[in-house]
Amino acid sequence: MYTPKTFNIPKLKGLTEETIAEHIKLYEGYVKNTNGILEKIKELSIDSEKNAYILGEIQRRFGFEFGGMRNHEHYFGAISDGAKAIDIKSELFNAIEKEYGSFDSWLARFKAIALTRGIGWAMLYFDEKEKRLLSTWVDEQHIGQLAGAKIILALDMWEHSFVADYQPSGKKQYVEDFFENLNWKFVQDSF
Ligand SMILES: [Fe+2]
Repeated sequence: MYTPKTFNIPKLKGLTEETIAEHIKLYEGYVKNTNGILEKIKELSIDSEKNAYILGEIQRRFGFEFGGMRNHEHYFGAISDGAKAIDIKSELFNAIEKEYGSFDSWLARFKAIALTRGIGWAMLYFDEKEKRLLSTWVDEQHIGQLAGAKIILALDMWEHSFVADYQPSGKKQYVEDFFENLNWKFVQDSF
């Protein structure tokens, strides 16, 4: 059983407590559905031949629910416990500079990824096999997740995460404020 995590989210720039509270409820829904699907698969697998169609469909949903759970844990973790600047002596900072030339050029690239049209996530991963950082876009909760790579930073770009406070036209400001609210210590520890 997966249990929902709790987060110590302080007063944030731009995002109201109401938006965060609603968003946490959505996160908890993903945890509940992740558990629910695992249960259901177990149940239906007793007669997997008879339930083949429904099993196939429900199995397809699993990555969506699981991704929704994990992505949000990275997102809320990164805005918990107060904003903290990145430590320029940290391994993460060095890895970003090594991969992208400079921290600022990575940041510009990541912000551009965040403005991808559609619902999904801007993500920073660490490919442990080749020891490389990779930045990308994930559609919905799961489509485009990088196989075998570890999530370092996840920015929720679904409208539910910002529209109540920013309006759809405020997407860019939401991305700017996310970095103001970011606890880099959490991100460094994820690395
Ligand atoms: Fe979300």
